[in-house]
Formats: sequence, structure tokens, C-alpha cells
Amino acid sequence: MELPSSVFVVSIFTFLLVSKVQWVAFAASPCHFPAIFNFGDSNSDTGGLSAVFGQAPPPHGESYFHHPAGRYCDGRLIIDFIAKSFGLPYLSAYLDSVGSNFTHGANFATAGSTIRPQNSTLHQSGFSPISLDVQWNEFYDFHRRSQIIRSQGGVYKNLLPAAEDFSHALYTFDIGQNDLTSGYFSNMTSSEVKAYVPDVLDQFENIVSYIYGQGGRSFWIHNTGPFGCLAYVLERIPILAAEVDKTGCGAPFNEVAQYFNLGLKKVVSQLRKKLPLAAITYVDVFSVKYKLISQARKHGFNESLRACCGHGGKYNYNRHLGVRSKENGGWQRNICGQTMQGSIGMD
Ligand SMILES: *[C@@H]1O[C@H](CO)[C@@H](O)[C@H](O)[C@H]1NC(C)=O
Ligand SMILES: *[C@@H]1O[C@H](CO)[C@@H](O)[C@H](O)[C@H]1NC(C)=O
Ligand SMILES: *[C@@H]1O[C@H](CO)[C@@H](O)[C@H](O)[C@H]1NC(C)=O
Ligand SMILES: *[C@@H]1O[C@H](CO)[C@@H](O)[C@H](O)[C@H]1NC(C)=O
Repeated sequence: MELPSSVFVVSIFTFLLVSKVQWVAFAASPCHFPAIFNFGDSNSDTGGLSAVFGQAPPPHGESYFHHPAGRYCDGRLIIDFIAKSFGLPYLSAYLDSVGSNFTHGANFATAGSTIRPQNSTLHQSGFSPISLDVQWNEFYDFHRRSQIIRSQGGVYKNLLPAAEDFSHALYTFDIGQNDLTSGYFSNMTSSEVKAYVPDVLDQFENIVSYIYGQGGRSFWIHNTGPFGCLAYVLERIPILAAEVDKTGCGAPFNEVAQYFNLGLKKVVSQLRKKLPLAAITYVDVFSVKYKLISQARKHGFNESLRACCGHGGKYNYNRHLGVRSKENGGWQRNICGQTMQGSIGMD
């Protein structure tokens, strides 16, 4: 695929997705959040993995920032648009020690993160060691130590959040997709993947409760997307022709995503009972993404399943050519935030 048009397609995808979410959520009533604390994977990583494991290379960032900007996207991610809609700056990655400003929040997400810690290294499997439990530890430490340091005054006062902002902040989550693909990538069947979903959801529920215990009150939780429409999944896990839906997505994968989402919805209901002072919003990102992919032409896209800038083949994707450069395709993706297996490119 030729570079400029396909990259453009990806950024428009993100834009449409975000404008819909914003319209539903933020237009109705004015919200004044002084800070955002985000937890997640590549869907919302604004520089975490890049800070630790090397920068996501060009052409990441080229359409909006005009240089790599820590995002697995040519443009901006949903979390950037959420911050913008509140009039806040883009979130600094907690792990980024260069030039970060946490006055209005921090981003704990890293590309490839899962809810459950994986029993493999990033090198072996492509999944980030910064799983949600680690992100929670980081947040806990940040909460406590930022206040000690801020009380010293000077520049720290202009780099760290005020104490009261932790309870007034919006806590956002977009994580879980990699927990599902990790099972498939270790050759599990759909029923084997489904069997561990309750454990994944339990661990998610615990972390939200812990954050509530630290004063968090407003939670914005994205469900998981239709990962059965992602080039790196379709290329990597063979399925029967009969299992491909009319959009061209792998139906069994999307069914498992929806199984996870049904469970997540139940977890959210339980949390609402358990955490009486919390306002918890469940956001159906699956439907938004699936609609965009299945009605791509209506929204002005020619391709919704093939990776941009890839290596030919049905999905223009080749995981064996996946390590970190434009030439070898370390950034093959069809939706922003969905490069993980390509950008780390193990096996
Ligand atoms: C990792 O291994 C432990 C011990 O065998 C197991 O309980 C856990 O479920 C494994 N985690 C994953 C993500 O497979
Ligand atoms: C950090 O960002 C805030 C605005 O979000 C700004 O007021 C503050 O001056 C910045 N801190 C520094 C040290 O530049
Ligand atoms: C999954 O199966 C493939 C093909 O049989 C094999 O090459 C690969 O090593 C297996 N992966 C794991 C993690 O077991
Ligand atoms: C998309 O398809 C239309 C009609 O088939 C064609 O005219 C246009 O050049 C295509 N655009 C890209 C970027 O491939």
C-alpha cells in the first residue's frame, strides 16, 4: 500500500472513533476534570513503552506530531482527544523521565500490556511486562511520592498534581485485548481462552477497587475492541473460511471479545454496588470500531482490514518482518494502537 493515503486512513479512523465517543459522552453534560490517570495498552500508550524499550520509530507520529511521539499511531489516540476535550494537555507517560509534566495527570499504559502478568518476557511473546498490576503499583507510588515532592515547592509545584486532583480526576482504562490474544498466540482454543476470562476480569475489578481506595471516584472504562478484525491476528491465527464474517473479520475472536465485554459489563455493575461513591462509565468501543470497519466505505475508507505500509499478502502484514523500522515493517497496523505483534515482532 502506498504510504501517504494509507496513513491518512488510519488517522481518520481514530478521529471518527473519537468524535463518536465524545459526542455520546462529553457533549451532554459539562465535566470538569482537573486530571486524567490512564491505564492501558497500545490503544492509549502516549510514550510508556517507547521510554523503556526504545522509541516507536517513524512513520509513527508523522501525520499529527510530525515525528515519533510515543504512540503506536500516525496521529493521535482516543486518550489524546479525551484530554483535549477537557482542555488538558496530552498525558505524559509515567515512565518517561524526559520533559514530562504530570500536573494534569499521568499515563501508565504501555503497548502490549495485559491485565494479568504474563509468564513470558517482552522478547519472547511481545507482551509488555508492565501489566495492570504493575501500572497500579506505579500509580500508588506516584500518588504518595508526588505529594511529598510537591510539598517542597518550586518547580515541583508546576510538575505534579495537587492532592485534591486525585479524587476529582478521571480514571480511564483501555486494557484486556492482549489478555485474549495472548492465549490464542500460545495455541489455545477459544474455549480455553474463555475459561481464563473470569480470572482476568477479577484482577481488573481488584485494581479499580484499589484506585477507589486511593480516592478515585470517576472511572471511564473502555470495553475491548473487535480484535478479530486486526491484521496481525488474522495473519497469525488461521481460521476456517466459514468462520470469517461478512466484514472479513474472524468471528470466533470477536465472539470471545464480546464474551469478555459481557463479563466486563457485569464487573462494572458489581463495582457500582461495591463502590457507592464512584461514577463508572462503561464505554462500548467494540461497537464503534466494528461499525467503522464494517462500514468503511461509507466513512470514506477503501481498506479496513489490511495493514497500512506492510508487506503484501492478504492483510499486507508479515509478522516475520516485524522489528522496528519502516523498511521491515515494524509498524504494520490497520487501526491506531494495534501494532503490537508487529512492532515487537517476536518469533
Ligand atoms: C502464569 O503461571 C502461573 C503459575 O503456573 C499461573 O497461575 C498463571 O495463570 C499464569 N499466567 C498466565 C497469564 O498464563
Ligand atoms: C506543566 O503544565 C502546566 C499546564 O498543564 C503548566 O501550568 C506548568 O507551568 C507546566 N510546568 C512546567 C514546569 O513547565
Ligand atoms: C503453536 O503451534 C505452532 C504450530 O504447531 C508451533 O510452531 C508453536 O511453537 C506453538 N506455540 C506455542 C507457544 O506453543
Ligand atoms: C479508493 O477507491 C476509489 C474507488 O474505487 C478510488 O477512486 C480511489 O483512488 C481509492 N483510493 C485509494 C486511496 O486507494
